[in-house]
Amino acid sequence: MAPGLELPGGAAAAAAEPLVFALNGTRVELANIDPAMTLLTYLRTQTTFRGTKCGCGEGGCGACVVFLSRYNRNSKRMEEMTINSCLTLLASIDHCAITTTEGLGNQRTGLHPIHERLSGFHASQCGYCTPGMTMAIYGCLRKCAPATTHEPCHENGHEKQRGLSGLTDVDAERAVSGNICRCTGYRPILDACKSFASNVDLEDLGINEFTRASKGVSLPPYDLSLDPVFPQFLLEEIDATERHVARYQAWVKGATGNASAMDESGQVRFIHVESGAGGADTQERLWITATKIEEVFDAMAKYEGERKVKLVVGNTSAGYYKHVNPEVFIDISQVPELLSIDQDAYAIEVGAAISLAKLIDLLENFQPIKDESHLHDCEIGFRQAEGTGVDSIALALASHLKKVATGHVRNRGTVGGNLIIAQQFQFPSDIATILLGAGASVKCLGKRGNHVLLEESSLEDFLAKGIPGNGCVLQSVRIPLTDLHKSNKGDDTLGNSSCCSRVMFKTFRASPRPLGNALAYVNAAFFARVSTPKEEEGNNPTQNVIEEGRFAFGAFGTKHAIRAHGVEKFLSHKAVTPSVVLEALQLLKIDVVPSTETSKAEYRVSVAVAFLFEFFRPFLGAAAITIPKVRSMHQNNIKQENGVKKWQHKNQLLNKGKQTFTPLDDNYPVGQPVPKMVAELQASGEATYVDDIPSPENCLHGAFVYSQEAFAKVQHIDLKAALESAGIVTYVSALDVPPGGKNVSAATIFHQEPLFATDVVEYVGHLLGVVVADTAEHARKAAAKVVVGYDTTTVGPPVLSIEDAINQNSYHQLHWLALNSMYPVGDILNGFAGADLIIEGAEVSTNSQKHFYMETQATLVIPDEDGCMLVYCSTQCPSYVQQGIATCLGLPMHNIRVITRRIGGGFGGKVTRCLPLAVSCALAAYKLKQPVRMVLDRNTDMVLTGGRCLTHTKFKVGFTKEGKILALQAQIFWEAGFEPDFSNVFPSFLMRGLRKYDWGAMDIDLRVCKTNKVPTTAFRGPGHTQGSFIADAIVERVASELGMDADEVRERNLHTSMSLGRFYGPEITNEPEFVDESGEYTLPKLWARLKESAKWEERKQQVERFNAENIWIKQGLAMVPCIYMVSSYSNVAKVSIYSDGSIVAEVGGIEIGQGLYTKVRQMIAFSLSQLWSQGRGVDMSKIRIVQADTISLANTGMTSDSTTSEGSCAAVRAASEMLVARLRPIKEKLEKEGITGELPWETLIAQAAFAADLTAYAQWTPDAGHYLLYGVAACEVEINVLTGERSILATDLIYDCGKSLNPAVDIGQVEGAFVQGIGFFMTEDVEMKNGTLVSDGTWTYKVPTVDTIPQRFHVELYNGPAHQHRVLSSKAVGEPPLLLAGSVHMAIQNAIKAARKENARWCAQPNVEEESKHNTNIFRLDTPATVDRIKLLCGLDNVESYLEALVRMEQQPNTDSSVKTIE
Ligand SMILES: Cc1cc2nc3c(=O)[nH]c(=O)nc-3n(C[C@H](O)[C@H](O)[C@H](O)COP(=O)(O)OP(=O)(O)OC[C@H]3O[C@@H](n4cnc5c(N)ncnc54)[C@H](O)[C@@H]3O)c2cc1C
Ligand code: FES
Ligand code: FES
Repeated sequence: MAPGLELPGGAAAAAAEPLVFALNGTRVELANIDPAMTLLTYLRTQTTFRGTKCGCGEGGCGACVVFLSRYNRNSKRMEEMTINSCLTLLASIDHCAITTTEGLGNQRTGLHPIHERLSGFHASQCGYCTPGMTMAIYGCLRKCAPATTHEPCHENGHEKQRGLSGLTDVDAERAVSGNICRCTGYRPILDACKSFASNVDLEDLGINEFTRASKGVSLPPYDLSLDPVFPQFLLEEIDATERHVARYQAWVKGATGNASAMDESGQVRFIHVESGAGGADTQERLWITATKIEEVFDAMAKYEGERKVKLVVGNTSAGYYKHVNPEVFIDISQVPELLSIDQDAYAIEVGAAISLAKLIDLLENFQPIKDESHLHDCEIGFRQAEGTGVDSIALALASHLKKVATGHVRNRGTVGGNLIIAQQFQFPSDIATILLGAGASVKCLGKRGNHVLLEESSLEDFLAKGIPGNGCVLQSVRIPLTDLHKSNKGDDTLGNSSCCSRVMFKTFRASPRPLGNALAYVNAAFFARVSTPKEEEGNNPTQNVIEEGRFAFGAFGTKHAIRAHGVEKFLSHKAVTPSVVLEALQLLKIDVVPSTETSKAEYRVSVAVAFLFEFFRPFLGAAAITIPKVRSMHQNNIKQENGVKKWQHKNQLLNKGKQTFTPLDDNYPVGQPVPKMVAELQASGEATYVDDIPSPENCLHGAFVYSQEAFAKVQHIDLKAALESAGIVTYVSALDVPPGGKNVSAATIFHQEPLFATDVVEYVGHLLGVVVADTAEHARKAAAKVVVGYDTTTVGPPVLSIEDAINQNSYHQLHWLALNSMYPVGDILNGFAGADLIIEGAEVSTNSQKHFYMETQATLVIPDEDGCMLVYCSTQCPSYVQQGIATCLGLPMHNIRVITRRIGGGFGGKVTRCLPLAVSCALAAYKLKQPVRMVLDRNTDMVLTGGRCLTHTKFKVGFTKEGKILALQAQIFWEAGFEPDFSNVFPSFLMRGLRKYDWGAMDIDLRVCKTNKVPTTAFRGPGHTQGSFIADAIVERVASELGMDADEVRERNLHTSMSLGRFYGPEITNEPEFVDESGEYTLPKLWARLKESAKWEERKQQVERFNAENIWIKQGLAMVPCIYMVSSYSNVAKVSIYSDGSIVAEVGGIEIGQGLYTKVRQMIAFSLSQLWSQGRGVDMSKIRIVQADTISLANTGMTSDSTTSEGSCAAVRAASEMLVARLRPIKEKLEKEGITGELPWETLIAQAAFAADLTAYAQWTPDAGHYLLYGVAACEVEINVLTGERSILATDLIYDCGKSLNPAVDIGQVEGAFVQGIGFFMTEDVEMKNGTLVSDGTWTYKVPTVDTIPQRFHVELYNGPAHQHRVLSSKAVGEPPLLLAGSVHMAIQNAIKAARKENARWCAQPNVEEESKHNTNIFRLDTPATVDRIKLLCGLDNVESYLEALVRMEQQPNTDSSVKTIE
């Protein structure tokens, strides 16, 4: 009942209760809403709060995180949590308070300390993730607030209880583990989080504004009492509603004898109807809020079967099952039967609507039995004594659950929802598996006639059979948590011989990322009751006997989690010996069989086997064998805290960073580590990106129709269904290009690219047209209804790989610029002739990488008078956008005004690949004479924006026995995709990367393959990254052949200044050699410095020792150099001074997160301050750098190649110097006229404003086109030989940044680039199937998250020598450090070598020892080093080999030499 509703009389006509909630403290009441609308869509389209961003719409990135508070009527407590607004349905937030980052504070009324600290720790670059990060941190801080009891208002209202307590650094770090940042590399974000923890010393955190002595800025204090509170009006309304309902029901009961007769719950609350033209395609969506289980049954009986019904609690499954489109939403989140929590000494029974977060909480605080003595003996005590790492069932489940999804998802997602999708839709659930292993059972409720039926079954039966019938719901899950009733001492199952039976329970998961937010490749949960026979009976007291076991496996490509019954039966009453375990593993392979379509099937099976082995491994110690020490990444500890068992993770994050640099005062404020401009606004959500610009009136929205085939003739395009769908306006295609225009998107100097396909589609993602509708959702839906008929039979097979391209001779032409860089060096024949050894026919490949900028491609086009267009575009190159649109529409460029204020990440993906979207959007706006907005969803963005190019290399290398390389010959294939984009020039960059070693002589043949795939494009460090990796892979191969350490071979082949000149000279100076006159070649110095600072030799020995002592965890080390050649381009700038002294500047570069505007600001302050003798007259706060605007500044070029910041700085410096020249005489005149001391800036400008032209425009052209950059990195990794999982233990990196313009910004670039490199080299696997992208979103594409970065990361900015040709002797930094992440890959290779060496020992048989030793070193690891590739190289059957060795030893204890080596 709506509050305040009149009782009798009005009751029968009562309207559906409106949705009431608070948004940033303000009451919102919505009478009718679309049940399918998410909170995020509502926020972004119907409110002014656009701070909350959409990065994926899948629950996988955290950009959309907001804070939800609600009052729990039962417990009378507030519940507070972070949630993904992209998954939360608007209708489900009734009487909740939603706080977005804007609600925490803003620039005008005061920022929140989180905003300020994120800025002060330099933790925001492009800023697109920052609002989500802010809210994730806020959620973590609020968890530390003492629980607040909010009594309804009539009982003295809502009382604030505040005070931060007990936030630890570990909790703080975990706060953002469900959020993605593509720019910063996370370290500064983690430091900002940790600055709130009570056990952290600010001095131990990374570079920040608050410890800089000169600044005197202290850490903004956090006072919980200033946080937003749950609004009083909501409490009053909740209270009033409750009292009204009670009174109303009493009245109804009095009148009708039935308390619920007139209750509105269970009725349809919201109806949304939409239909296309003439009533076609009508869809009706209903929302029903149920408060009683009967209402759920009634609603299901009414609608199930006829309409698509969804029971809703968290709605988080919508992140995975995005296209289900339910029609009837039944909100079951308030049904008491589904919210029950029942626990006794043995088990917890939770209602299906209980959230995963709540379940974790219950499990962590589960107190099994009052008398713990027995349990202690048989469970905990046993485990601790044996050191098995086995944990109590409750804690093991809780620990596993913490790796399910993200904290934000777990706050809303429920146990029931998970089990249902696991059962009905084959979701690779963890929860189904671990509860199956724990022996859980479920209850389902249904209704037959007037009877409510309750059916109880084991979880196993439920998974096999599902919900018992239509109209049934899953009511609860019972999880047994002790096995006490069975595990009594002297249990007679073992007769007299049993001494003590003990319960073991352990869960496992292997996934691309360790801490979750990644589905498991395989998961498992094992329960076993184990007994040890009595000694006096003549039994072997060290043998453990399995009384019974439950072995559950899931996610391996199975319909649902299963129990390995064959294994269970086999093991029953067996003593655990190597041969028994080996046989069990063989049997397991009969039970664990992935379905045919499963990816990485062999890997999954091998990990399942490894899990079972790991479970039994502690017992194999009983087989009289010394088992070497194993440190498992999965192990956890239990610690006692105030008598309560608490979970403690051994693999907790605790990343630590150290940054070393020298701030330089000479050119103040240039050289100072000042925070990024407007970082606070990025955090508070006030910074505007393209999709945040409010839509103009009549704004329409576009969605692409693109080819789903790799190569086909287009037979027909059927638009009927699309043109009948709701909100449709029109379809735009090549036919709409106006006369005089061209069907092109890119019109650059390198090539012209068609906009829309016409007769033939050449790749999946080839654009066919744009559907335009009134909303983005309608446009997307209509686009999905366009039916394209393809003929694939007459065009021949598509070219889908480098191999296909070679076979079909399908190549792009190289641009002359690239051809010029293919020069051979030295005498290759002579080089090979002098070699002691030659490797021939070796190969290595690099995969692609997707940009995954957080802000997807976005454009808004507003037609203006006289055929002009105003275009807001997220682009790295507004000039290209201007040129592309002008060419397509046949208009002069001056008609097209492109404005770009900032972009939410680009990394090269918004240089040319923004053009198809921008030009299509402009074409649609031109056709309709209406504003049109287009923003790609994440999946479409990933399909349409080709990433980094792929390469394949075949090489021949000759070298001496000492590891000096004398000759390199290689054939390199570069896969461009269908259009050349930049691939006709970028191969020259690959050559630059490849030349980083002195190969003696070098001769490369490079071909650019043309395939039927979406064009690849620029990506941070294009070409260089692949070239540098290929070079290291070659060195690694040489080292393996020689049995040497690869870093020694690297050192031996580092360039001298002479060889550097031979390899790079022709490109740098157009001379065959160049001479390093200024001593800029610092690489050998950096190498030596790093070896010392990273304690290299010592660590090598440590790693060797570690590897000797550990079988299943191996470590690896690698040290890698990089040489990067950048090109400088001319740049333009305009600087204007207003009469009040404020300054505005425009530059050619775009702020893409790299801190360009910040450096420009520093440079202007420095340059204008030259008017004063002390050089400090102009304060940076007076300077504003404004958006790029192609009408204001013409021909600005592109933001790329790392050098745009310095180019823009140089241009503003030139413009500022012009202004200084104009101001100086005025200043001198004024000073002569009697002003004592130096004139303040404001006074000078007030006088000068009307006496001189205070706007200056300058174009800067670099003295030298190219220069070289140097860096080195040393990396230490650890791999889990059982699962292939890997972690980066430490990275030490030195980068020569010259005289850094801003060390804070530059360190941010180094760290961010390195971590993006970790993605390329380790985690980001681009998978294609028949030309279609498989890894098209956060579920399948894994960019690094906080748990993948180096645990210890030391970055030093080396203060390189001064150089007259550089901008204030600075050097570029944006891209080169990405190459240094190659050290991660090389270190993994070394860890694999150690694992293979170990494995070879177990497999070793007489006579083949020599051969197997050789093979251990020689293998090929392409990029990225994913877990499955690592495991494959370590040996998919390494566990079996090991056990076979143990068995051999068991059988012949004194003869098998291979086994001796194990001991
Ligand atoms: C980013 C992300 C990552 C994830 N990672 C993992 C992971 O690693 N491991 C894992 O196990 N899970 C993972 N999940 C899945 C997550 O656990 C589930 O989405 C969540 O538990 C579902 O609960 P819900 O309340 O949101 O369900 P909803 O989405 O609301 O409902 C899901 C389905 O269950 C039905 N349903 C719900 N309750 C009942 C009921 N009581 N009776 C009958 N039918 C019902 C609904 O009709 C619907 O069909 C992930 C989810 C996301 C979004
Ligand atoms: S947008 Fe919601 S998690 Fe990515
Ligand atoms: S700052 Fe995090 S995504 Fe750009």
